[in-house]
Amino acid sequence: MSIYFDNAATSFPKPEEVCEAMLQYQRELGVSSGRGAYKKALEVDGMVFKTRSLLGRLFNIKDATRIIFTSNVTESLNLALKGLIESGDHVITTHMEHNAVWRPLKVLEEERGLKLTVLSCPEGEKFNPGDLEKAISPETRLVVVNHASNVTGTLMPKEAGGICREKGVPLLVDAAQTAGVYPIDVEELKVDLLAFTGHKGLLGPTGTGGLYIAPGIDLKPLKEGGTGGESILERQPDHLPDKYEAGTPNLVGLAGLGAAVRYILDRGLENIRRHERELTQRALETFPQVPALTLYGPSSAEERVAVLSFNLGGLPPEEVSYVLDEAYHIMVRAGLHCAPKAHRCLGTVDRGTVRIGLGIFNTEEELEYLTKALKEIAVQAKS
Ligand SMILES: Cc1ncc(COP(=O)(O)O)c(C=O)c1O
Repeated sequence: MSIYFDNAATSFPKPEEVCEAMLQYQRELGVSSGRGAYKKALEVDGMVFKTRSLLGRLFNIKDATRIIFTSNVTESLNLALKGLIESGDHVITTHMEHNAVWRPLKVLEEERGLKLTVLSCPEGEKFNPGDLEKAISPETRLVVVNHASNVTGTLMPKEAGGICREKGVPLLVDAAQTAGVYPIDVEELKVDLLAFTGHKGLLGPTGTGGLYIAPGIDLKPLKEGGTGGESILERQPDHLPDKYEAGTPNLVGLAGLGAAVRYILDRGLENIRRHERELTQRALETFPQVPALTLYGPSSAEERVAVLSFNLGGLPPEEVSYVLDEAYHIMVRAGLHCAPKAHRCLGTVDRGTVRIGLGIFNTEEELEYLTKALKEIAVQAKS
C-alpha cells in the first residue's frame, strides 16, 4: 500500500471517468476539431464545446468562449502577463507567488521596464488588503496574486477583487491551487483574468489548463497560427477563443478535462471543499502533537486549502521525505516548491519545507498514519 500526499503538484489518482473519456476519444473519435465538417469532426467540436461550457458552469462564466485553453496555468499566466503589460507599467503582486508568476514578471522588468510592488505576507499569512489599496496608483496596470499559496495553502483575502474593481485595475488570479477544490465565481471574486491548470484540483490530465478573459480585457496573443476556420486571413482572427488558440488543441486532454469537471459538478464542489477542509482541520490538530514539528501558515482550516508545509526539528526536508517514502510508502514533496520568495516569509529559504497536498481521495486514516510515521521519525532523530 502507498499513500499519495502530493496533490498540490498534481492530483492522483484521477477519477475512472477521466481515464475512460481519454481512451474513448483516442479509440473511437481521434480526429481534429475546428477543422473538418464530417460527422466525427463535429462530434469532437461538440466535446471541446462541452468542456468549455462545463468550466464556464464551474466558475460562473457566462460566455464560455472567453475561456482560452492552454497547456497549463504557467502558459495561462504568461499569456495574461505578457499580453497585457506594456512598457513602464506598474504591477502589484505578493511574496507568496509561484515562479509561474514571478519569473515572467522578472522578464517583463528587464525587457519592458515593469515597475513592481510586492506585498508582504509575514509568516505566510494572507496580505493585508489595506496594503493593496495603498499600493495602487494611477500607473498600476495589473494586480496579480494567487488564490491560494502552493506552499502554505493560504487563501487570498476576499476583499482583493472589490479593491481592484473600485480602483479600475484588472485583477489576475492564479487559481492553480483552488480550481476544483474551492468555490470560484468570477463575478463574486471580481476577477478579470482567471488562470487555472487542469491537472491539480480539477482532476484532469496534465497538459491542460486555461485562462478566462473578462469582457473589456484585450491581450496580445502569445502565438499565431492555424485555427481551422478563416484560413484566408493573413492575421489571427480577432474573436475568442481563436485569437489565442493557434494550433491543434490537446484533444485527448480536453476529453479528460471535460469528464473531470463533470465529475466535480456531480460530486458537488461544496462536498469536495468540506472533505478537504475537514482533513486540513485534522492535520492542524494532530501535527502539533509530533515532537519538534513546526507547521507554517494560518492556524485555521477556513483560511487555507488543503496544502500544508512543515519542518521536523533540524532534519532536512529531503530526508523526511525520503524516509516517509522508503519506510512508510508515503509520497510527499520537499524543497522550495517553485516559490522561493514564500520561504523568505516563512524563514525557510535555506532548506525549504516538507509539503503535503491533500486530495479528495485522501482519508483521515491516511493522515493518522502519516502523523504516526512523523512521530516515529522525530523520536528516531532525537535518539
Ligand atoms: C500557485 C501555483 N501557480 C502555478 C503553478 C504551475 O502549475 P503548472 O505546472 O500546471 O503550470 C503551480 C503548480 O505547481 C502552483 O501551485
